Amino acid sequence: MLKRIKRHQVRVGMYITDIEDPLRDEATPVRSFLLKDETAAAKVRASNIISLVIDIRRGVDVGASTVQHSNRDAALPDLSRAFTQIEIKEALQTIEQTRPLLDTLFSDVRLSGAATFEPADRAVEQIAKSMESNPAALIGITRLKTKDEYTFLHSIAVSALMVHFARFLKFDEPTVRVLGVSGLLHDIGKMVMPDALLSKKSALTDEEMAEIRTHPVRGYELLSRQSDMPQTVLDVCLHHHERIDGKGYPFGLSGKQISTPARLAAICDVYDAMTSARSYKRAWTPVETLRMMQKSEGHFDRHLLAQFNTSLRTSFPPAPVNERRNGARAIQ
Ligand SMILES: [Fe+2]
Repeated sequence: MLKRIKRHQVRVGMYITDIEDPLRDEATPVRSFLLKDETAAAKVRASNIISLVIDIRRGVDVGASTVQHSNRDAALPDLSRAFTQIEIKEALQTIEQTRPLLDTLFSDVRLSGAATFEPADRAVEQIAKSMESNPAALIGITRLKTKDEYTFLHSIAVSALMVHFARFLKFDEPTVRVLGVSGLLHDIGKMVMPDALLSKKSALTDEEMAEIRTHPVRGYELLSRQSDMPQTVLDVCLHHHERIDGKGYPFGLSGKQISTPARLAAICDVYDAMTSARSYKRAWTPVETLRMMQKSEGHFDRHLLAQFNTSLRTSFPPAPVNERRNGARAIQ
C-alpha cells in the first residue's frame, strides 16, 4: 500500500518508492529503496524534496516505530531502563572526551601513515577512569552504533572491554592500560582502506575479502613506525584474528603460538561486534552472543571465554534500574 508523506515525516525503516523533488530530472525513474540509516534520513529531511511516496507493506509507516536500535538516540529509552540518567550522561561524556583524541589519531594515520601512542594512551586514561565508576553504561552505550560512528565506537568498546576483562583477571594497572590501548588500536589498519570496501553491504568478492584480511598486517606496519609503541599493542593488532584451532588469519597461528593479549582481544572484538546494534540488523543480546561464542568450536581460548562470561555476569547483574540500590550496575 502506497502513501504520500512530507519530507519531515521520513524515518529509518521506510520503503521509499518515489520522490517529488523540484531539482530532480523527472525523466529519471526513482529506484525503490529501504531507508536504512539515520544519516540518510536526516539528509532527506534537510533536502529540497517536497514529498515522498512510501510502501507501508515493505517498510515502516508514519508514526510507527523505526527499525529497532537504528541509532543511539532511538535506543536511549531502552538504556534508561537499565541505567540512571547520571550514568548515561557520564558515559556519553567519556565518549565525547575521547572523540577529539581519536579524531587526531585517525587523521594522523590517514595523512602521515603513522599512529602515535600519546593520544591513544590519553583516550584510554578516560576510558579506564569511566570503567572504574560506570562500566556497564559505557559498554551499553557503545553497543548502539550508527554507520558513521561504527569504527570510533567499536574502538572505544573493545578498549573498555579489554580494560574491564584485564582488571577482572587481576592484571596490574600499567598492563591494564596497555591492553586498553591495544583494544583501541586493534583495527587501525582499516583506517587506510577505502570506505566503500568497509561499508559494502552486499557480499564481498574473494579479492575484497582478501584485502580486508590485510588489515592486521597493515595496522602492524603503521604502529611499528612509532618507536614508543608497546610490543603488546603491536602483537594484538597483528594477531587479533588468529584462532586457537589455526583457522584464523593472517598467519594461521594456533594454540600457544597466540599470546594471551591477542586471545583477550579476539574475545572482546567479536563480543562487541555481535552485541552492536546497526541500522540494518538487530543486535544479539549479551547472553545470546556468549552462547554463540561458546558454541564456536576452536575459535576462542575456552578458559578465557568462560572467565570473560563470569566477568560480565558478576560486574553487570541484570537488574532494572528501579530495583538497584547503591549504584549496582546492570547490562541487558
Ligand atoms: Fe579486526
